[in-house]
Amino acid sequence: MFENMESEKSILVASTVDGYMRGERVWEGPHAGRHASQNSRNLPLICRPWRLWHRATLCFAGPRKASWRRCILGAALIVIVVVIYSFSESSHRSLLSYVLCSSLVRGRPPESLFRCNNMGNTTLPHLRVPPKTLENKLREDPKVLLFTETRYSKTGKAITNILVANRIKYKMEVLGKSLPGLTNLSRGKYGTVVFENFERYLQIDPWNRELLDKYFRDYNVGLIGFMPSHEDTQVGAKLRGFPLYVHTNMALENISLNGENPVLQLTRAGGTITDNLLGMAWTVFSPDDTTYVPIEWAYSSVPHYSEEKLITVVLDKGEFDGIQRVLFGGNLEFWLHRLLFLDAMSYLSMGRISISMDRYVLVDIDDIFVAKKGIRMTADDVMALLDSQKRLQEMVPGWKFNLGFSGKYYQNGYPEENIGDRKLLEHVDDFWWFGHMWGHTQPHLLSPKDLEEQMELNKQFAMKHNIPTDSGYGVAPHHSGVYPVHEALYDVWKKVWNVRVTSSEEYPHLHPARLRRGFIHRNIMVLPRQTCGLFTHTIFIDQYPGGRNILDVSIHGGELFQTIVFSPVSIFMTHLSNYGNDRLALYTFESVIKFVKCWTNLNLRTVPPLQLGEKYFHLFPEERDPIWGYPCADHRHLEIWAKNKSCEQLPKFLVIGPQKTGTTALYTFLAMHSAIVANYPSPETFEEVQFFNGKNYYKGIDWYMKFFPVPANSSSKFLFEKSATYFEGETVPNRVKALLPHVKLVITIIPPSKRAYSWYHHMRAHNDLTSLQYNFHEVITATDKAPRQLRTLRNKCLIPGMYAKHIERWLDFFPASQVTIIDGEELRNDPIYIMNDLQKFLNIEPFYNYTEHLRFDKRKGFFCQVIEEDKTKCLGRGKGRIYPAMNESDAKLLKEYYQPYNIALEKLLTRLDYPVPGWLEDELQ
Ligand code: A3P
Repeated sequence: MFENMESEKSILVASTVDGYMRGERVWEGPHAGRHASQNSRNLPLICRPWRLWHRATLCFAGPRKASWRRCILGAALIVIVVVIYSFSESSHRSLLSYVLCSSLVRGRPPESLFRCNNMGNTTLPHLRVPPKTLENKLREDPKVLLFTETRYSKTGKAITNILVANRIKYKMEVLGKSLPGLTNLSRGKYGTVVFENFERYLQIDPWNRELLDKYFRDYNVGLIGFMPSHEDTQVGAKLRGFPLYVHTNMALENISLNGENPVLQLTRAGGTITDNLLGMAWTVFSPDDTTYVPIEWAYSSVPHYSEEKLITVVLDKGEFDGIQRVLFGGNLEFWLHRLLFLDAMSYLSMGRISISMDRYVLVDIDDIFVAKKGIRMTADDVMALLDSQKRLQEMVPGWKFNLGFSGKYYQNGYPEENIGDRKLLEHVDDFWWFGHMWGHTQPHLLSPKDLEEQMELNKQFAMKHNIPTDSGYGVAPHHSGVYPVHEALYDVWKKVWNVRVTSSEEYPHLHPARLRRGFIHRNIMVLPRQTCGLFTHTIFIDQYPGGRNILDVSIHGGELFQTIVFSPVSIFMTHLSNYGNDRLALYTFESVIKFVKCWTNLNLRTVPPLQLGEKYFHLFPEERDPIWGYPCADHRHLEIWAKNKSCEQLPKFLVIGPQKTGTTALYTFLAMHSAIVANYPSPETFEEVQFFNGKNYYKGIDWYMKFFPVPANSSSKFLFEKSATYFEGETVPNRVKALLPHVKLVITIIPPSKRAYSWYHHMRAHNDLTSLQYNFHEVITATDKAPRQLRTLRNKCLIPGMYAKHIERWLDFFPASQVTIIDGEELRNDPIYIMNDLQKFLNIEPFYNYTEHLRFDKRKGFFCQVIEEDKTKCLGRGKGRIYPAMNESDAKLLKEYYQPYNIALEKLLTRLDYPVPGWLEDELQ
């Protein structure tokens, strides 16, 4: 694939029995002899019966699918060994072993053979800075404007994936008759405009083209365009309006970068790529003006077509028409283009849309002392690990492998492996260490007491063997307990190990990696963990799932390479077995780091986990707050969720408010239904749980679920809760959607001014000092210069009544079919009708006939619950309070204040097919 990548033939043969016993080896292939005295791990298998047994069993049952020849050979060897060991005298045994040793063939660990053919120093181009006059013309965080063919087009998706992975904000538009607004209060919204198909830009009608081009010039913003691949071949076709010619449908090879072009920032001109360039149909550019500078070029793979380099990505410096552009003659399937795309964006936005050049990489080695007999590390593997660490340190300042151990399995391997265990401890100071579970048990299966005992045992082991215990980092087997959260793990981690940082692949879920994020729970930082393609049983290169090429592609520009390039912080998890056997982890990381150094200007470094955590949340403070997801959407999450937890213990619907619209009456009437179960009361907030809107959210979902009965006959019960402050909470809809994606939402509304007035009296009744200090008029007319408490009171009084605004926010997250809006006035006057309707919306069975259970109580002036024939139970004194009527001038003021929101509400209700309540019509008169 790349020039200078040496082919490798990894076959080791013993030259003679004597040679083997002296540790001499003969290598076939280009490195023959290089490692002849490397180590005893390469002793013939028969001389290490445990390895022989392991390999032979893998023939039939293991992950390794050997050839039939090997299997037969393996089987024969086992039979012979058994016979020898059973029947021979010891002298015969050793003789036969000698004979057998001479005929064995085994693999050798692969080495990173990638050599960069342009490794010298390159001067890093200076990031372009906008001239002072232009600085304020764009908004502070300009977005990318992306024009796609359709919402689902391939290149469009590839572009958005890169933007999401790099946390770059964008707006996606399917190009129609009109352009989206490009400015806001005369500030430009977009830092770069991308056309998935550049031809669409050329075809825009003159009016819109003029508008767009003017935006480019006025705001000094550039365009990125991708040439579409064509079935028909065009030779030398002129691009309409440009001194630029294109040739389409070209097959190319030997692609490289023009190191002299000013666009390269992240990307480094690493050499020549010699593979068949994905069989893409390329477009190449022939410029006829000095405004064009080649960025990438290649040769035709058709013999004698052209001896010259053909330009595949070109920069238009804007000398021709005042607009800078970067045009791609191939798509983003080619990994190098993904890097160039980021550079083009940074260049064309004058650095305003650019990513940092610092990358932190940490490699964990988990399961130290845990791996099964036969696939653990030997002493030589440990030495190879140390050698590799030294080489990596030269490329990545601070590189140290981070070792996670379970002491219970120390010295639990074959003799050579036990020496390996001891070797690791001899070099204890050369690595970083973190505690794992003593017995590698999943925390979610353990009681807090057992969990603590397990961790204590491991800590004692660490102290006995001088393993440092102060890294502040911990991981759990299979992410168990980290996410979905098992609170006991967090408690015990803190108590025993003072853990302050961990990592997981499970938040929000395993795939796709670009969406993985971090969060902080109970002061423990959970960092996103990446996968590198190596799992416990990926231990031999020739058995890599799908073939070695898959791993090599991932390293050389593919997934692993891009993970490092696109994530400012990468933590990779590997396992002890990846460092024994074929030492695939050493191969993988040395190779990918070399590749990153060759093709990028990134500053790579490694810091200890605690520093890494601090770095991460410094970079992404918005990720500190967790978003608890629905644990039952992902089978992996279910596998690491305690068996006594169930999604049936989560509510099926929520009454979300707003306050003072009749939510308590609704809650009480719903709870009368035999199939509906309300939450247990909270000691602090009474009938309301108030989970999604405040500090309670940080207590986690175990805390939330405690408010609901453990499901017995779950499916027939409708659990619900009512928290009337959910309605206007900015972050609430997103949180509810994440945890309860299928939940139904019940909203009640009454005239907003009436609601505001009722709320004010509610606060007074609760002895709220501010409301006692200020009268209603003072509250609703308070300005932004008023004392803070008064402003807070004013906001809480008025903001929930902006119904349309809040309902629209909920509808951004939930389909209208999951939401019902109840007229609170109707609920008050005719609750039987409302409750019957609500049962239908909730699909609740059996039908509960409220006619028999609700009755108007003259004394209370409201509908109340029928207890006996002539007895009702009404809501307490706090509901249906008696207070003086609102004075007319305040009512008028509020009517005006709410008018725009009420207009929007009428439109919204009509759009959603609801009748417009009489009171709303009155408000709008
Ligand atoms: P007032 O006390 O101002 O009259 P919430 O429960 O959301 O806080 O709403 C309280 C309001 O519910 C009361 O406001 C009252 O008008 C209204 N309500 C509707 N039906 C009711 C009922 N059956 N009993 C008591 N109050 C009811």
